Amino acid sequence: MSPPRWHIGHTSWFFETVLQKYQPGYKTYSEDFLFFFNSYYEGFGQRIERPKRGTRSRPTVAETVAYRAHIDEHMARFLEQVSHHDEAQSILEILRLGLEHEMQHQELLVYDIKHLLCDQFDAPIAAAPRAIETVSGMAEVDGGLFELGYSDGRDAGEPPAEMRALQFAFDNEKPLHKVFLQDFLIDRAPVSNGDYLEFIKNGGYQNFRWWHSAGWERVNTEQWQAPLYWEQKDGEWMIRDFAGLHQVKDKLNEPVSHVSFLEASAYAKWAGKRLPTEAEWEKAASFSPALNAKREFPWGDAPPDDNLGNLFENGLWGVAPIGSFPDGRSPYGCQQMIGDVWEWTTSDYTPYPGFKSEFDEYNDKWFVGQKVLRGGSFATPRVHIRTTYRNFFHPEERWMVSGFRCAKDR
Ligand SMILES: [Fe+2]
Repeated sequence: MSPPRWHIGHTSWFFETVLQKYQPGYKTYSEDFLFFFNSYYEGFGQRIERPKRGTRSRPTVAETVAYRAHIDEHMARFLEQVSHHDEAQSILEILRLGLEHEMQHQELLVYDIKHLLCDQFDAPIAAAPRAIETVSGMAEVDGGLFELGYSDGRDAGEPPAEMRALQFAFDNEKPLHKVFLQDFLIDRAPVSNGDYLEFIKNGGYQNFRWWHSAGWERVNTEQWQAPLYWEQKDGEWMIRDFAGLHQVKDKLNEPVSHVSFLEASAYAKWAGKRLPTEAEWEKAASFSPALNAKREFPWGDAPPDDNLGNLFENGLWGVAPIGSFPDGRSPYGCQQMIGDVWEWTTSDYTPYPGFKSEFDEYNDKWFVGQKVLRGGSFATPRVHIRTTYRNFFHPEERWMVSGFRCAKDR
């Protein structure tokens, strides 16, 4: 992972590249910082190797914060003038990307703090909600043609300009395009710790038959026996999170998290199910059969709030019990599709047909070897998530807040 100050410097670096390009006479803050805070952009010159970010003690936290303040100040001045700029529209688009990029790093910062400090970090944790209802079984979803992806036109014609200014989607969510789905079933709730504990107790990690070859190899080389942050104490499984160490038996009704795609797939096979494709997930999350239309969120077009899903502003710093957000259900009765845990799908992270890159090296260069996750997590900022949002990680990764729900053929 990266040291926290790296995220702080890197998100400012992104804006400094905008100043360098569009602000006449802007003087680079420090060549050294350009090297240390560039992440992976070949187009922006040499950079420190990712695994080495944590090995350098310079720039210090104070120096990094001073850099951030400097960029903020220049950016504020730049923004006052930007409407007069010939390229105002494309600059505003890059700035919006910069803000979305910063929100992505806010979430990564939560993962990194958890990995480095976990319960030693004094997170300002809000009281957890209670499960209001029991959520069980699978929803039946009809197949047929489905329009996958993001469209800013939506159903009611072009939205007014002031609405368009607020809307955002990454290039990888576009264009909206037709896919054909078979009829399918999908879990109404994410797979819980209780469900997953059954898999462990049933010898799931000891039996090759549930695993992809790559998964079985990881089980053996990494000695996987349970999700990340699970540990055994006196023969009992415990989960460590920002609030401390808990017995799994006190968290049976919470979504399982920090599992890899390989583990999610093994569980699904053991359970006689499979993971959904991203198109199946998106239909279950966004489509209203009554309206015959997609909506922005499972519950409709209103933005997320405290009662609709568990995102970063809820302040839980962890998952919420299954059944805590009945108001956030989709028309199919699926719950907690937005927030709590990113959900693995079987879909490879590849460009949609008709994809056009809107920013070099941002999304387009990652279209190989990764799997798509949907829905956001408790660490995702509210304004940053949509049902069409495509996150992506390698199949063996589990340091992010990743869980899943299963699907099945009908
Ligand atoms: Fe970045």
